[in-house]
Amino acid sequence: MAEGRGGVAPFSSPVIDATGLQRIYTVGSSTVAALRGVDLVVRKGESAAIMGPSGSGKSTLLGLLGLLDRPTAGRYVIQGTDTSTLDDDELAALRNRAIGFIFQAFNLLPAESAEDNVAAPLLYAGVRRPERQRRAMAALETVGSADWRSRRPTELSGGQQQRVAIARALVGDPGLILADEPTGNLDSVSGGEVLDVLDRLRDEGRTIVLITHDPTVASHAGRTLRMSDGGFLGEELCSTEPDGAGA
Ligand SMILES: Nc1ncnc2c1ncn2[C@@H]1O[C@H](COP(=O)(O)OP(=O)(O)OP(=O)(O)O)[C@@H](O)[C@H]1O
Ligand SMILES: [Mg+2]
Repeated sequence: MAEGRGGVAPFSSPVIDATGLQRIYTVGSSTVAALRGVDLVVRKGESAAIMGPSGSGKSTLLGLLGLLDRPTAGRYVIQGTDTSTLDDDELAALRNRAIGFIFQAFNLLPAESAEDNVAAPLLYAGVRRPERQRRAMAALETVGSADWRSRRPTELSGGQQQRVAIARALVGDPGLILADEPTGNLDSVSGGEVLDVLDRLRDEGRTIVLITHDPTVASHAGRTLRMSDGGFLGEELCSTEPDGAGA
C-alpha cells in the first residue's frame, strides 16, 4: 500500500478536488437531494470506480465532475481551477479541453463515419479540417480502430462502437476521462477489450472515474467508492490493480 493507489504516488497533484458537493433537483414544488455533500479527491493517474444502487446519485456526481452541471452547494476544483469562478462559456471551454466522456449507449452520430464522429469535438473547438483528420486518425489508432474509419456506427459491433467513442473522448487529449457504465451495453469479450483500453489510458497517466454495476469492471480501478442515498458509504482500495506485479 506504500506505493499508493494503483501505483500512483500519494502526493501527485489532484485532478479532482471536490468538497461538500450538493445537488438538489427541484421538480415542480418538490425537491430531490441527489447529492448530500460529497468530498472527493482523485489524483493524476488514478482510476476510481463508483458503485451503488440505482438512484444513489452516481450519474449526478459524474455530471458535476464533468462540468455538465453545477452543484447547488460545495466547491469543485479541477486541475487547480475553482469552477465556481467560471461563467458558462468558460466552463464549456474547460470541459472541452480537460475532459473526455464515455457513455453506456456510445452516443455516436449515426449518419457520420467513425472518423467524423471522433473529429466532432475538434470541429466544435474550431480546429481546421486537415488537423482534425490527422488527430482523429491518431485517436482511432490508439484504440486499434483505424481500419473502421469510414464505417458508420450501424456498421460496427457494440464493442467497436465503444472504442470509436473512446477515440472521440481522447481526441482532445484530455487528462480526465469520465465514463458512465462504459461496458453496460457490451458482452463480456467486448467489455474486456474496452477495459484493456481504459487500463492503458490509465497507465499513460490519465485520470479515470467510471460508474459501474459490475465488480469485475470495478476491480480494474485502484479505488472503489460506494454510494448510497446521495453520499459515499465508504471506499475500498484495490490490491489487484496492475502496477507491474499483478493481473
Ligand atoms: N434531472 C433531474 N431532475 C430531478 N431529479 C433527478 C434528475 N436527475 C436525477 N434525479 C434524481 O436524483 C437521484 C439520483 O439520480 P442519479 O441519476 O444520479 O442516480 P444513479 O445512481 O446514476 O442511478 P442509476 O444507477 O439508475 O443510473 C434520483 O433520485 C433521481 O431520481
Ligand atoms: Mg446513472
